[in-house]
Formats: sequence, C-alpha cells, structure tokens
Amino acid sequence: MLILGLETSCDETGVALYDMARGLLADALFSQVDIHVEYGGVVPELASRDHVRKVLPLLEQVLAEAGCTPQEIDGVAYTAGPGLVGALMVGATLARALAWGWGVPVLGVHHMEGHLLAPMLEDEHPQFPFVALLVSGGHTQLVRVDGIGQYRMLGESLDDAAGEAFDKAAKMLGLPYPGGPHIARMAQRGDPARFDFPRPMVNRPGLDFSFSGLKTYTLNTVAECRQASELTEQDRCDIARAFEDAVVATLVIKCRRALRQEALKTLVIAGGVSANLRLRSALERALDKEGARVFYPAAKYCTDNGAMIAYAGAQRLQAGQVDDEQTRVRPRWPMEELPPLDAAGAA
Ligand code: KG4
Ligand code: ZN
Repeated sequence: MLILGLETSCDETGVALYDMARGLLADALFSQVDIHVEYGGVVPELASRDHVRKVLPLLEQVLAEAGCTPQEIDGVAYTAGPGLVGALMVGATLARALAWGWGVPVLGVHHMEGHLLAPMLEDEHPQFPFVALLVSGGHTQLVRVDGIGQYRMLGESLDDAAGEAFDKAAKMLGLPYPGGPHIARMAQRGDPARFDFPRPMVNRPGLDFSFSGLKTYTLNTVAECRQASELTEQDRCDIARAFEDAVVATLVIKCRRALRQEALKTLVIAGGVSANLRLRSALERALDKEGARVFYPAAKYCTDNGAMIAYAGAQRLQAGQVDDEQTRVRPRWPMEELPPLDAAGAA
C-alpha cells in the first residue's frame, strides 16, 4: 500500500511517499525559514502562499525520486492540525483534490501523532508501550503511548513550549528564528559554570512544565550583563549554555519521573527540540543508569517533514480510517481525541 503524505502545518512544505511493504520511498522538504527570518517568526499568510507555490513541484520530485506514477498511489494523507489554519488548508485542499482525481481514500493526520511516530521510520524502532516526550515549537507534552491512537496525556507545558522558549531566548541574544539550533551552537562555546539558571517546576510533584520563569530569568541576565558593559560574545555563549542546560535538565527530570510513574523502560523523544544533541546525550546517560532506553527520529525527521505524515497516514488508512464529509482542518486538536487504530476495524 503506497501512501502520499503532505505536511503544510507551519513553515515547512513536506511531501513523501511511504509504502507499507517497502518503507519510505522518497521525501522532499522545502523550509521557509529564509522567508520568515526578517520578521523574527512565522507570518501565517506568507506561509500559506509559499505552500501553494512549493507543494506541487515537491510532489513531482518525490514521484520522480521513487520512480512511481500517480496511478500507483493507494491513498493520500495530509496534516489536518494542529497548525496555522491557512497553511493547513493548502495541504487539505490539495490532498482532497488529488484523492478525488485519483479515486483513492484521503485522511487528515494529527501533526503531533506524526512527530510521535517518526522514530518508527528507523530500522531500530521502539515497541509499544512507551512514554513519549513531544517537544516542538508549539507543544511540550509527556504522553503514555500504548499503541497508535492510544494516548494518555501525563503532563504538558502550562505556558510556553520548549521550542518556543528556545526561540524567545534566541531573540533576546540577537539570534535569528528559529532559535533552537542557534542557541545550541552558541552554547558549545559557553562556560557551564558561569550562570546557574533555575530548573522550573522540578521540585513540585507532577509532570507539567513551565518555561516562562526561565524566559524572564534569561531576560534579566541579559539586562544585567548589558548594565555591566556591552553584551559580549562570551556573555551570549554563556547565557545560551545556561539556558540550554536548564531546559535539558528539566526535561530529563520529568522524563525519568514519567517512566518511573508508568513503570516503563522505553522513552521516545520527537519534535523539533529532539534534534538537540545535548538533550539526547543527557537523556541517554540518565536512562542508561536505570536500564531504560531512549529512541528518537533521524535528525531530518525531528523537525517538520512529510515522511512522518505519510507514515502515520499509512497506518491509519490501512486500518480503514478515512475522512468523511464533515472533516475539517483543526488549528487546535487535542491528541487524545484521536481514535485508536483498530476503531475502524484492522485491515
Ligand atoms: O517540530 P518543529 O519543526 O515544528 C513545530 O511543530 O513546532 O519544531 C520547531 C522547533 C523550533 O522552536 C526550533 O527552535 C526547535 O524546534 N529546534 C531546536 C533545535 N532544532 C530545532 N531546539 C533546540 N535545539 C535544536 N537543535
Ligand atoms: Zn512539528
């Protein structure tokens, strides 16, 4: 069963072809980062317009790469939410038009389920049940996963998402959007002993997160350095390091707590922030001591991509799930509302 996946929820146009028997055949991505960089964040209208421009050429590219014709495609999956409504509508409209034209089923996929399942694209992938830490620009969530569509929220951010916190801290340091990779790069040259940033909410029980206090602390530290003199390159590196260390430590503590609470030994991390190398190695070290294991997607499938949507859509389409006439894109969409995979009868 060959499935086309379209991702257009934010500022990346992703198109991929996934085959249930042969795996991922092709995927293509266009990142709009250069379009939005001068505004310091994603401009929704510009994002939608650029998806319109890029999605068909990317489709042609993946068909050529995979050596497939449209007649071989058995279904179309697209990101139906959460995300920017105009951007989502580009993918949804094209997916429905293609599926109608080709006479195949179409299904709207949940963007965060796509992220959550992205580690399944790897040869060595996790087995259910596991705890997933979803850390992206819009979400920070700890989820118990018993199977596809069997999700129980264990904790989430009460304010900013981890990626959003990275982006805001980067802005304070004069770094471009999206800030996560820039902070990580600067932090490599930072002195970990110079500042000690607070680890938010780790002394409180529970699995929720809060990053707004850390954001304020970062802002105040920047201001203090500025008061002393100009903000030097070393100041920026040291602040980036202290910020990254605080976020990583907080995430690690909550992941260990979630695994212990659920009596599980498998953790999955996914979403843009899971590309962070310091987070990956800190989690590996911490879990190793407890005989637990962490799985994550390949670096290029951590941030938004079409492959994860094609994969998630293929699992659900194969189980018989399809859009009906009432299906709408959903800018907000709690993941717990998703039906379990076998709800529509396994294929
Ligand atoms: O999953 P994603 O591509 O898009 C959303 O669905 O939000 O995540 C983007 C987020 C941005 O906030 C970006 O700064 C962050 O992921 N990010 C990182 C790294 N790479 C991307 N944060 C920390 N370290 C990184 N290496
Ligand atoms: Zn995402």
